Amino acid sequence: MQLEHLLGIEPLQPQQIKKILDLADYYADQNRINAQNNNALAGCTQVNMFFEHSTRTQASFEIAGKRLGADVMNMSMEASSIKKGETLIDTALTLNAMRPDLLVVRHPHSGAVDLLAQKVNCAVLNAGDGSHEHPTQALLDALTIRRSKGRLQRLNIAICGDVAHSRVARSNIILLGKMENRLRLVGPSTLMPSNINEFGVEVFYDIKQGLRDVDVVMMLRLQRERMDGGFIPSEREYYHRYGLDAKKLSYAKPDAIVMHPGPMNRGVEIDGEIADDLRHSVIQEQVEMGVAVRMAAMDILMRNRRKNTKETNI
Ligand code: NCD
Repeated sequence: MQLEHLLGIEPLQPQQIKKILDLADYYADQNRINAQNNNALAGCTQVNMFFEHSTRTQASFEIAGKRLGADVMNMSMEASSIKKGETLIDTALTLNAMRPDLLVVRHPHSGAVDLLAQKVNCAVLNAGDGSHEHPTQALLDALTIRRSKGRLQRLNIAICGDVAHSRVARSNIILLGKMENRLRLVGPSTLMPSNINEFGVEVFYDIKQGLRDVDVVMMLRLQRERMDGGFIPSEREYYHRYGLDAKKLSYAKPDAIVMHPGPMNRGVEIDGEIADDLRHSVIQEQVEMGVAVRMAAMDILMRNRRKNTKETNI
């Protein structure tokens, strides 16, 4: 598998997705039995550059790197030279000159991480760029689904809420579509992307119809920070119409799983009790699978890099 960077799900073949998930599955089991650290990333320098606030994703990448023996550095971009006027590319070139092996980047602008990857010699992992892609989130969601349902094909999956602003939704639509599932998007028309017809999925504006007989209910956070106007009448009204509660969930299959990428707005897109109900909710498992998927992705990128880099032992 000759992946140099992981910038999105779009360029991946189903076979490559499966390979990442298989390795992640192995790491998930290892993590559970508290197996001895494997040193797949020993000697590698991993730099996490987060230009947007993040709690779980940054922590997850940090833990994943450390579990594999990498030297991990978190750059606080709030305090960085970007504040002094340096461009993203100059920051990248400066870092590149320090010869890291892996850059994990989150940025508020779609396409910024791809651009950066063109300017550096190390492997780049997209940890979320604007409303474009968030590949490791889609992979961890896929692994969670595969472990819960025993397969990742022919499932009815509803992605609900603020689809328009969500890189999680975009990466998931691409991944779950490549793996031949039946996808539905559910939410108000104001929160659907304008090019919705290009996605080749069913769209429902009524959540009860949208959830009927689905195997997987994936809720999305209402992304207030990406909205610049009145996309919804009020949070109360939104909860009433689209917030997942027991009544709405009862339209899904009895063994349906409930997912959310976090951070959750309880009482806005999801009822707190549903989020905590372990008969359906796999939200904590998603977090757990996040570490395993990031270990797998970084392991594969570093193996490819070792294969491709000429030794410069002089
Ligand atoms: C998501 C993100 O940042 O895109 N969260 C995450 O990665 N844990 C989803 C979100 O912010 O709603």
